[in-house]
Amino acid sequence: MKKRHIAIADLKISKKAKNYVLSVLNNNRLSYGKFTGKFEKEFAKTHNRDFAMVCNSGTSGLQVALHALKEVYGWEDNDEVLVPAVTFIASSNVIIHNNLKPVFVDVEKDYYCVDPKKIEEKITSRTRAIMPVHLFGQSSEMKLILKIAKKHNLKIIEDSCETMFVKYMGKPVGSLGDISVYSTYVAHIMVTGVGGIVTTNDELLATTIKSLMFHGRDNIYLKIEDDDTKNKVRLNSLIERRFQFNHVGYSYRLTEMETALGLAELEKKDQIIKRRIYVGKKLTEALSKYDRFLQLPKVRKNSEHIYMLYPIVLIDDRIEKEDLLLFLEENEVETRLFMPLLSQPIYKKIFGEIEDNYPIAKKLTERGFIIGSHPYLSDQDIKYVQNLFYTFFKNKKLIK
Ligand SMILES: Cc1ncc(COP(=O)(O)O)c(C=O)c1O
Repeated sequence: MKKRHIAIADLKISKKAKNYVLSVLNNNRLSYGKFTGKFEKEFAKTHNRDFAMVCNSGTSGLQVALHALKEVYGWEDNDEVLVPAVTFIASSNVIIHNNLKPVFVDVEKDYYCVDPKKIEEKITSRTRAIMPVHLFGQSSEMKLILKIAKKHNLKIIEDSCETMFVKYMGKPVGSLGDISVYSTYVAHIMVTGVGGIVTTNDELLATTIKSLMFHGRDNIYLKIEDDDTKNKVRLNSLIERRFQFNHVGYSYRLTEMETALGLAELEKKDQIIKRRIYVGKKLTEALSKYDRFLQLPKVRKNSEHIYMLYPIVLIDDRIEKEDLLLFLEENEVETRLFMPLLSQPIYKKIFGEIEDNYPIAKKLTERGFIIGSHPYLSDQDIKYVQNLFYTFFKNKKLIK
């Protein structure tokens, strides 16, 4: 069998995207301009939100989102935020960076998002928020999470860095909590190199977040149109307030070049959604022959999955994960670990040996792994992956 390279992610920058970036360069304007304004407006519309604000990463978006909630609602240091025990480390790092305490909650064995049934037992008098993470391309079980949040008066900050565009019970992912944060880092659904987007419907949170992204400056500019220098009264107040700082903020801005790339991607979102769903479903179809060995991604009822990545969990103890990953890698199928979090050296140092308290997360870390499901995988690529699994199981005498 001739080897094919199956990358975790791939990128093809369209002619339109190149033209948009060129137009930014020709305009000689790199700071917040018309591309950023349009990108934010369109992204907010796509995700049913009043406000969308770009920044230089998903992590910085999460950082300012939590900072804004802490400030607006008067949370204290060491107040608690619930976060899944399986996620990319940035989700919980930002809680620590905000001098808050991450409290881990085990995840669902089928969908890998925070398990709503395990949330309430973790709530204390110090709990202030839940951070569901929409992992790998599908939404968390928001209906139940919203109910719990309402009952206990908790805020919801959705880490939607891995999931955009798809619907959860008819609503765009990330449209249900107080604040949502998306990432456009390479390998994500929509790619701008680096980048993050924060969305909300709450104007006070929006202005605070925007200010925090811009060194804590007075909340004068929320949109490009706010820089209205033709209106004399407005101009007078702008001059006063342009160099006034009300928060201890950060420098988390993005340039017009990234948002030009983002706008081109956003304009072909239907194509991205269609292709990713096709590739994900096709992989499941191809590998379902081996579903006595592999747990493949399951899709929540009434919801969509956009397969940012393709998670697989080994359910037959005779299979050594290391053997399989080595075999796949030797045959040019890139693999990644299943978002190990509590086993990270730094988290062991901070939180101790707590993995045993999270049996599903532990199992996923031990038995799960990830392969690519990007839009540029062809039917032949998928067939190749299927044949490799077949060969592996045959070599191990697990099938005839
Ligand atoms: C779940 C999750 N949260 C947060 C982030 C951080 O995003 P960024 O890399 O843009 O900072 C990522 C990035 O991969 C992620 O997967």
